[in-house]
Amino acid sequence: MSENLHQLRCFGCGSRIAGAEAQPDFRCAQCGDLFEVEYPGWNQRGGPDRPNPGALKWLWRERRCSSEGLDQSGVWRFRELLPILESFGNAVSLREGNTPLYHLPRAAKALGIDQLFAKHQGMNPSGSFKDTGMTAALSVARERGFEWVACASTGNTSASMAAYAARAGLNSLVLIPDGKIAWGKLSQAMDYGALTCQVKADFDGCLRLLTQVVKQAPIYLLNSVNPYRLEGQKTPAFEIAEAFDWNVPDHVIVPGGNLGNSSALGKGFRELRELGLVARLPKISVIQAVGANPLVRSLRDNHGAVLEPVEAHTRATAIRIGNPASWRKAARVIEETGGQCLDVTEAEIAIAKAEIGAEGLGCEPASAVTLAGSKKLRARDAIRPADTVVLVLTGHTLKDADYTIDFHRGTLLTDEEKQGTGKEIEALRRNAVNVEATPEAVLAALKGSKG
Ligand code: F0G
Repeated sequence: MSENLHQLRCFGCGSRIAGAEAQPDFRCAQCGDLFEVEYPGWNQRGGPDRPNPGALKWLWRERRCSSEGLDQSGVWRFRELLPILESFGNAVSLREGNTPLYHLPRAAKALGIDQLFAKHQGMNPSGSFKDTGMTAALSVARERGFEWVACASTGNTSASMAAYAARAGLNSLVLIPDGKIAWGKLSQAMDYGALTCQVKADFDGCLRLLTQVVKQAPIYLLNSVNPYRLEGQKTPAFEIAEAFDWNVPDHVIVPGGNLGNSSALGKGFRELRELGLVARLPKISVIQAVGANPLVRSLRDNHGAVLEPVEAHTRATAIRIGNPASWRKAARVIEETGGQCLDVTEAEIAIAKAEIGAEGLGCEPASAVTLAGSKKLRARDAIRPADTVVLVLTGHTLKDADYTIDFHRGTLLTDEEKQGTGKEIEALRRNAVNVEATPEAVLAALKGSKG
């Protein structure tokens, strides 16, 4: 099989271009919509480039025991389904992917189902799901000879991009909303050597600004408007299918921000089905924060015909996005898989995050919307007791330690936000206690603890 087999197809008007012909902002010159990577060779049944499902399943499993760098990546392990490079030797990898799938027994019991799992993408090298997309798109940037890469970010994309750029020896430019990203993420961008610009704008404003910049300088844009990002981010779908022995779960629940991730996972499962690796699609549901819910509104108010941007507010800063770029792609994924799009309150997010913490896993606030959303899906009976559900946890708990500490100290939420959830929150809070340096004081603390 040759390595580079792809072309780009416009999601809006369907026009096709070669990968190298894309404009710097990755918008279609005809209609302004975004592109998707497609692989024409796969459509010819029996053709030389159409992958063989049985052989692939065997090969991908074998690679898990390989000591070769590319095989040890949970993205490039599946490289037959991402032939986007002239040479895979150009791939820049930090051994991303191959993330754990954890059972969540307590949350499952509370939901009234048995099979609840967390696919923890926060266990990637830079601590978020972005790494799977970054290894793909940054490798393309390197292969095409760019010296600078850039992104606008609520924090995780910038951390990931800066790490991969540093590994590849490229320069990176980050635009972030001033004061609106978690410290852990900002510290990563600095540590990995990015030129980090704190901009007096929200995420949507940063992305608009960057779009102008990349048209004026030879800088490669690495936001999820870049279709190669989504190629990497589709691979967790392969890992999930593989973990269930190629029987997909009934539900996959994803947080929604700029909506690249839900689009990518949908594409991943769709390709598995088209190639005959799985027989059906999981229902993919997207969960947003109530204060940053433009897709929820669009689907509710006009069945996804138009999206009215909102001014976004949520403490889950990763998904504080009011004008998501990939909304059309995500809307299609929800529709074609029979999933739903819901929003959850600040209190529901905080409670769900503490519950995931109490299972010994932890995650970012933005990731916890998945558990909060599952409760609503279960209450509507959209999730049935016998269903298998996978929550995609997108970021590591240490990314936003301030949020967690504020929750446990009881200073995170206002009384208005807590409304009716006070007891639940109190039961989950585990504030640190100050004790004297004596055994008696520690024993007294033990006695007073909630266990
Ligand atoms: N969860 C986390 C932890 C994120 O960082 C993001 C997005 C999302 C969920 C939403 O994913 O945008 O693909 O719908 N973070 C971006 C960033 C926007 O800049 O780090 P999405």
